[in-house]
Amino acid sequence: MADKQISLPAKLINGGIAGLIGVTCVFPIDLAKTRLQNQQNGQRMYTSMSDCLIKTIRSEGYFGMYRGAAVNLTLVTPEKAIKLAANDFFRHQLSKDGQKLTLLKEMLAGCGAGTCQVIVTTPMEMLKIQLQDAGRIAAQRKILAAQGGTQASVEAPAAPRPTATQLTRELLRSRGIAGLYKGLGATLLRDVPFSIVYFPLFANLNQLGRPASEEKSPFYVSFLAGCVAGSAAAVAVNPCDVVKTRLQSLQRGVHEDTYSGFLDCARKILRHEGPSAFLKGAYCRALVIAPLFGIAQVVYFLGIAESLLGLLQGPQA
Ligand SMILES: *[C@@H]1O[C@H](CO)[C@@H](O)[C@H](O)[C@H]1NC(C)=O
Repeated sequence: MADKQISLPAKLINGGIAGLIGVTCVFPIDLAKTRLQNQQNGQRMYTSMSDCLIKTIRSEGYFGMYRGAAVNLTLVTPEKAIKLAANDFFRHQLSKDGQKLTLLKEMLAGCGAGTCQVIVTTPMEMLKIQLQDAGRIAAQRKILAAQGGTQASVEAPAAPRPTATQLTRELLRSRGIAGLYKGLGATLLRDVPFSIVYFPLFANLNQLGRPASEEKSPFYVSFLAGCVAGSAAAVAVNPCDVVKTRLQSLQRGVHEDTYSGFLDCARKILRHEGPSAFLKGAYCRALVIAPLFGIAQVVYFLGIAESLLGLLQGPQA
């Protein structure tokens, strides 16, 4: 996907624009994913993605589906910047005298970039998850209170709605930097294997549609290959994503398990909810990732940043 001739600022602008459009289009599905992954057996509020979205609109309004989107909108560009810069750095280190990278080295560079990106991704996910899941917990309390008789109803005031900034301050105050980096290990365990699945799959699928061995694949082939490879990789690492979401959620619903770490969480999920629980939200995640990758490729393909930069520089002689 990465073309050598495109400058880093142009890549950055492309990445930022793609990120902003992407978040706007698929954030509600991302919210449904978080809520579906967090619900444990017993107190299930939502039966499916559409059920979750309908209930969210009913109780929280249309903007309720976008709770936490500000985190993504603000941080998606710095996140992309780190990833692109790291990817360029590793590719440069790995390439001998400007030759084309082998697939293995491409993968290595991708994994290295993924590892650096986690510096921004982890706190981002941490904040996003609290904001996305708050509505589910509030709704669950309300239902229990309406059924009457639980202690929860006694101390169930209107749920507080902290902003991302307030959450950050509170986390830093109570737990320091580590508070923002809860789930770092789980995030790495999700994102590094993601690259390991994505890169070879994309390369192979992309190859299938190449007319002659020397030519580049046509755009629609790369586009489809990106969407398919992205979704497949997302589903493959979904078990880690479920564990990550659970570990990063600070608030629990009524009667929900708490976890002390990655293994404890994986074990409890397996024991109390069965192996299929590791696929919770997988469908949503595939639906989030495919458009994100697709949109990014279209933005790159159209060269939106290059046109913008060209406009700034004025007509070329
Ligand atoms: C929001 O950002 C997180 C962290 O990078 C990412 O995993 C998630 O897919 C993003 N969601 C959307 C809808 O872009």
